[in-house]
Amino acid sequence: RPFLSPVPPLPALHSSLGFSIIAFLAALYLVPALGGIMVKANLKGRDLLKTYDTPIPECLGLVCASIYILLLILFIPFPFTSWYKEHGSNISNSKPAEGISVPEFPHHLLALYLSSLLSLLMATMLGFLDDIFDIRWRYKLPIPIIASIPLLMVYYAEQGNTYVVVPLPLRPLLGRTLVNLGPLYYLYMSLLSTFSTNSINILAGINGSEVSQALIIALSVVLNDLLYLPWPVDFRIPLHLLGSQKEVEVGGVWAAGMAYGSRELVERHLFSLYFMLPLVGVCLGFMYHNWYVYPARVFPGDTFCYVTGMAFAVVGIQAHFSKTLLLFFLPQIFNFLLSCPQLFGLVPCPRHRVPRFDPNTNLLHPSKVLFEHPPSHASTVVLRALSLLGLTELTIHPNSGQILECTNLTILNVFLVRLGSMNEKKLVQVLICTQIAGSVLAFVVRYGLAGLVYDG
Ligand code: UD1
Ligand code: MG
Repeated sequence: RPFLSPVPPLPALHSSLGFSIIAFLAALYLVPALGGIMVKANLKGRDLLKTYDTPIPECLGLVCASIYILLLILFIPFPFTSWYKEHGSNISNSKPAEGISVPEFPHHLLALYLSSLLSLLMATMLGFLDDIFDIRWRYKLPIPIIASIPLLMVYYAEQGNTYVVVPLPLRPLLGRTLVNLGPLYYLYMSLLSTFSTNSINILAGINGSEVSQALIIALSVVLNDLLYLPWPVDFRIPLHLLGSQKEVEVGGVWAAGMAYGSRELVERHLFSLYFMLPLVGVCLGFMYHNWYVYPARVFPGDTFCYVTGMAFAVVGIQAHFSKTLLLFFLPQIFNFLLSCPQLFGLVPCPRHRVPRFDPNTNLLHPSKVLFEHPPSHASTVVLRALSLLGLTELTIHPNSGQILECTNLTILNVFLVRLGSMNEKKLVQVLICTQIAGSVLAFVVRYGLAGLVYDG
């Protein structure tokens, strides 16, 4: 196979790094500076897990989203500079000299940027409206699906792949290596945007939780993208050392047997980096005020969760690695599946499911939901199964055996049920460690175990 040739120019990557530093500094300075304005606009919230009632500025995700999107807009010309340098002289001539072919402007790349920005703007609008009006679930869910249509259209225009590789053990059964999911693949991608925007929002409520999830997922995506870049150093290592016969080239040190080499692949991952690096900058700046200076001085609001979630959906779809992306959402997938009985009405869902705060000991305990009516048969079966798995704690009537209470079905409450009560700072550390462990597992599954079920 040709070795990464021709290598696309990378100067925009340096600019992107510069933009990320600006994003970090802007978030660091603007978030506290604009907090007061949010309180004046009645965008404030009470910290549910503290003894004091001081109003905390809410919806600072709007400031983060504005910094992020404005910087991404300013960045648009940069990935095209190399094209302009090479072919710019031909632009001024309306008619090029005979025999000179003028390469087309990379319109598809521009379409990729513009559609991505459109989706991010939609997410900002939805998040902001949610912060102001507390939109109901049934309205919240379809909007990201509509917001993802521009992304899907660009995917379609690029003749994006809708095939999935059948795992080795299933091949004799299906009799083929590839299955074309066609429209179902588009449905899956649009649902991905709904999942990624909402899943961070429902794993929230303790200082630093939303921003730390976003930061770790963004860093995982960055690390994954870096594996595909044409590094100046040849990392070629004989893979028999890793138990495989193949040789892996540049960037494949950790990524045994992964796809590499095509210019298109490098371009896609560069695109992803251009969207992820400034996000890392914004998250780091915001994290300082939401977590590092504990207790939180500002809250992210739904806007932050929706914009970061949509940014992940954008890169996953546009850079064609949606399945790898989902692997970075393992804690969110777990939390979503566990939440389903409450989200879909099988178990009552209070307005807040955050852990219960004990002001005397400063510790958090699993919060409980009280059954005002006896739970249905289906609810009882589900809750008993979850209790057997150690995912919820039930309070049972001593005589009738009826369920009276259960702990709220969130991963934060599971941590408290399994590991015992702890303070908020410790709980967010447990969440951060879980998110990091999830990403490590994701890399092992993607680049290590994938070889067992797929041929490379
Ligand atoms: C989601 C959760 C809800 C959880 C809430 C916490 C579901 C279905 N919904 O609702 O259970 O209680 O997020 O964000 O799972 N807050 C803190 N400390 C923090 C961050 C937020 O006390 O570190 C509180 C503040 O009072 C803040 C409020 O949470 O005003 C924000 O809640 P909001 O984002 O409106 O809740 P939802 O996203 O609707
Ligand atoms: Mg929220």
